[in-house]
Amino acid sequence: MIDLLVVGAGFGRDFLHLYQLHPGVGAVGLVEPDAGRLSEAVDAYGLDGGYATLDEALRSGRWDAVHLLSPVRFHVAQTLAVLASGRSCASAVPMATSLDDIERVMDAAAAASGRYMMMETALYQREYLHAVRLRDTGALGRLTYLRGSHMQDLDGFPPYWMGYAPMQYATHIVAPLLGLAEARAASVVCFGSGELLPAHRGDGSNPFPLESALFRLDTPAPLTAQVTLSFFENARSYTEGFDVYGDLGAIEWPSVEGAASVVHLAGPQDGAHRGRPIERREVEVPDRAEVLPGPLRPYTRPGRYRPPGGRPALEVHAWHGGSHPHLVHEFISAVVADREPAVGPARAAAITAPGIVAHESALQGGRMLDVPRY
Ligand SMILES: NC(=O)c1ccc[n+]([C@@H]2O[C@H](COP(=O)([O-])OP(=O)(O)OC[C@H]3O[C@@H](n4cnc5c(N)ncnc54)[C@H](O)[C@@H]3O)[C@@H](O)[C@H]2O)c1
Repeated sequence: MIDLLVVGAGFGRDFLHLYQLHPGVGAVGLVEPDAGRLSEAVDAYGLDGGYATLDEALRSGRWDAVHLLSPVRFHVAQTLAVLASGRSCASAVPMATSLDDIERVMDAAAAASGRYMMMETALYQREYLHAVRLRDTGALGRLTYLRGSHMQDLDGFPPYWMGYAPMQYATHIVAPLLGLAEARAASVVCFGSGELLPAHRGDGSNPFPLESALFRLDTPAPLTAQVTLSFFENARSYTEGFDVYGDLGAIEWPSVEGAASVVHLAGPQDGAHRGRPIERREVEVPDRAEVLPGPLRPYTRPGRYRPPGGRPALEVHAWHGGSHPHLVHEFISAVVADREPAVGPARAAAITAPGIVAHESALQGGRMLDVPRY
């Protein structure tokens, strides 16, 4: 049984009930500098501790593991502090926004007694789990091409997102494409597209509202993955998904969030028609809740949660394809068993570095650059 601390009550709030319900977790605490948000969450969930800063929580001598859901710029320093304190650390994406910082986290994780996991939602969303199953049953055949895009309008987001380099947040697309290809990114060519308006420029270091990259994967046969990220000045409703194509079958993410995925399956060429017959089928992608501990299973979908102590029931979300309970279960299981989590330091680096190098390629006008191998 481990005691778990959540850091950040924005996205972090969506994980509180999952940790409270997990059979491997004892106490659940929260770090949140906004005093009103902290006390509201501590009261609503009946949490076992609340702190204004991570330092204060680490000094308390309590808590075995920490899940960081603070703004991106704090991820590296907070990861290093948690690991140095002897605790295990889960971090929201991205692991880091520079190659040097990836190295620092990897070095710290290698020296630590605790475990490190990057909480990549894209690797546990039901659509990804279904695509892996299609690949593993041979329905896709040999892979030919992969592509994905994350398009989100960040107007109105906290000011620290202004000017954020899109490719430095590419993990939600890079992760499933590399996972499906069972490969690493070897090199990349990336172009920026559009020109950020002054109001969106932030510190001015990134000029692009959209970046699009072609990655060469390190597979024996040539295989290419295209990744597009856009955060501003692109009138597209939110999408965060991928398409994967093989010689026998393909699966495409719905063009509108929440709609059905589309599977294409090729039959044999019959000699009477040009091209092979390709059946197009809309599929309701199944949940994989059965692999979760019983109390977490209902929460791959939105629902109501009754916190301890007879507190009023709360409406709880289930964004990102039902992935959150799976992430919680994998992190807690790895810490309890003292084993490498599914997205440990090396895999987190292999997922995070391609976007960092892609942004560098875009800044250099599309120069082909190698991606470090971890
Ligand atoms: N699909 C995903 O994996 C996914 C989705 C959304 C957000 N995220 C990540 O989760 C993190 C949090 O996102 P968000 O939308 O809640 O951000 P946010 O800025 O809205 O909220 C973060 C919370 O952290 C608090 N905070 C600020 N500084 C802090 C500090 N130094 N220590 C502790 N807490 C601090 C803020 O007061 C706020 O309540 C980000 O890193 C984001 O990239 C991941």
